[in-house]
Amino acid sequence: MKYIRIIGGNHLSGDVIIDGAKNSALPNIVASLLCDECVLSNIPNISDVSKLLEILKSIGCEYKYESEKLIINSEGLNRNVLDNSLIGDIRGSYYLMGALVNRFDAIVISYPGGCNLGSRPIDYHLDGFKKLGIKVEEDNDRIVITKKDVIVGKITLPKPSVGATINLILASVRCVGETFIENASIEPEVQDVIQFLNKMGANISLTSERVVSIKGVNKLNNVEYKIKADRIEAGTYALIGALFGSVNIFNVDIGDLKSTVDVLSDLGCDVSYNNGVLEVRRNKLKRINIVTDVFPGFPTDLQQPFTVALTRCGGTVTDNVFDNRFSNCKEINKMNGHINVCGNVIQVYPTKLIGEMVTAKDLRGGMSLVLAGLIAEGETVVEDVEIIERGYTNFVKKLIKLGAKII
Ligand code: UD1
Repeated sequence: MKYIRIIGGNHLSGDVIIDGAKNSALPNIVASLLCDECVLSNIPNISDVSKLLEILKSIGCEYKYESEKLIINSEGLNRNVLDNSLIGDIRGSYYLMGALVNRFDAIVISYPGGCNLGSRPIDYHLDGFKKLGIKVEEDNDRIVITKKDVIVGKITLPKPSVGATINLILASVRCVGETFIENASIEPEVQDVIQFLNKMGANISLTSERVVSIKGVNKLNNVEYKIKADRIEAGTYALIGALFGSVNIFNVDIGDLKSTVDVLSDLGCDVSYNNGVLEVRRNKLKRINIVTDVFPGFPTDLQQPFTVALTRCGGTVTDNVFDNRFSNCKEINKMNGHINVCGNVIQVYPTKLIGEMVTAKDLRGGMSLVLAGLIAEGETVVEDVEIIERGYTNFVKKLIKLGAKII
């Protein structure tokens, strides 16, 4: 257990630089197994990435960092049984299913892990594989995936799923013929994987509303690619501007942040963007109702951090993506918060937060407790902060640079 102590009430302002996106880096690291050697830049320094790289090493791949670029060589890839406990430690390990069916006739893999956000099945991934003619057998805690003649076809996802869309793209990128994924996710991270694979020589396009077309190619080439900026990290620091005063956020892809900017404006903030820099200035916060949805809707990953602003001005959050992503609310209530949870909706009443000992239960919820500690009166101890290090690069250093008092 690792904890941090936060002395609340300090004023935060200044500049922050956004790192590469966790949810792009993880699938793109796995996608690099489809060629011999790739060079990836803008890789975030987070524990999910180091765990994924450890998994790659355990199956025969090699990697090294040179001048902040990650070089992955998968020529030695030789293990098709992935029973490593790390598979169950991170969510992004599920991408190995889609990538490795291109490299082996059969693979055995454990179930992925990740944050507990309510129900997180992987049935869309497995049903999609079956539609491609891949045999899937679930055997207690393992999945056995056997490639028969991979066929092309049309897969319609019951609802847009980031993980399933990417996994099915990875599985079909080298099919003979054309595959369509309907009702696909179009999140910026999915688009980043498509762009990376196309740079390698794949032929993938978003043909129309939520339809991904994959025309199979024989071979993918070695390339260098830059991971896109993390829109969730950017949105989190934008919220600090909304809570404290003025923050300039560098290295922002504004096209990824439209719904976040809309919510910040509804909260009453002044938001401006110029040449990769987003500036957020605080005004009197206004009560709002936040509704999360798949992209281009407001991201579910930001609802927990934004709940902290609602402890100031009141409002509701409806999470339409996950059914139980509110582990932070019970902890904020220990800090004199007043949040009622009812199904996938929370009602937040304005209160003055007071420092307490709280525990981070999941990545984004953990970050929301840090933000709550920063605006609270007195001292807050946040326990289990390793979970925040899964997805936020150097978050303590970045917050201290903005003026936070964290010990
Ligand atoms: C990814 C992100 C996570 C983000 C989420 C939604 C990674 C590593 N994680 O998670 O940070 O919060 O997208 O933007 O990129 N579903 C099923 N069956 C499936 C797959 C999904 O029922 O097989 C449901 C889920 O329970 C959820 C919804 O579909 O209700 C969307 O989930 P999905 O987009 O797949 O999330 P993840 O890929 O797990």
